[in-house]
Amino acid sequence: MYICQIFKCALKSLVYYQLIIHSHRPYVQDMINKIRALDIQMIAPSHGYILRANVQRYINVYDEMSSPRKNKKAAILFSTMTGNTTKIAKGIAAVLEKKAIETRIINVDNADLKAVLGVIRESDMVFFGSSTRYADMVGKMELVLKELKHMDLEEKFAVAFGSYGWSGEAVEVIQDYLRGTNIKVVDSSYIIKTTGMSHLQIPIRIKFTPDGQEENVLYPEVEAIGDLLLG
Ligand SMILES: Cc1cc2nc3c(=O)[nH]c(=O)nc-3n(C[C@H](O)[C@H](O)[C@H](O)COP(=O)(O)O)c2cc1C
Repeated sequence: MYICQIFKCALKSLVYYQLIIHSHRPYVQDMINKIRALDIQMIAPSHGYILRANVQRYINVYDEMSSPRKNKKAAILFSTMTGNTTKIAKGIAAVLEKKAIETRIINVDNADLKAVLGVIRESDMVFFGSSTRYADMVGKMELVLKELKHMDLEEKFAVAFGSYGWSGEAVEVIQDYLRGTNIKVVDSSYIIKTTGMSHLQIPIRIKFTPDGQEENVLYPEVEAIGDLLLG
């Protein structure tokens, strides 16, 4: 009977964590780092049980549940006319690499299609980028996207990005292709629903060349996307 109660209590805590706290896990990590050096004797939450024993064990469990997962792989695939989208791709890679996400950048215009599809298969998250030319994508990006419907992408995330001049249709076209597959398309709505962060602009669009300031604008978006992958 007692064991059964403990089990029910543990299960409730897990469900509570998963539904309410998990999406805010970066803040949980911040708080755990702040209390790490303290000698804590008791945890008295605003609701729920007061924990007087094994306090450190509960903190460790929270720490483990909110820690980023490792060994995640991202691929950044893009097409470009004059190199502006290449700069965005490199900016995205720099942020992901800071988070220890193994990242590959491929200009699909110069790559073998089968090799590109192999990289997609191996990746947990794929960024698809193209600049806009006459309201559409450029280069070979469309050839890559057309292949996706033959692949099982259920466990993967996708993000669209690109440089543009005035309307940026290519990013929308990329998203249309992605939504025709079973990949999870990460956009502002997805981020709001999974993390509660409502200030991020995704897909990632940069007008013409990303300068220093725009890279800063890009940073919170890619950081949140990276955190999502590290879940
Ligand atoms: C021939 C041509 C057509 C373009 N058409 C569009 C367009 O329809 N909509 C738009 O937003 N930008 C358009 N642009 C602007 C490009 O998307 C913009 O210059 C972008 O920064 C190019 O990025 P890239 O160097 O990665 O190709 C066009 C540019 C060129 C040269």
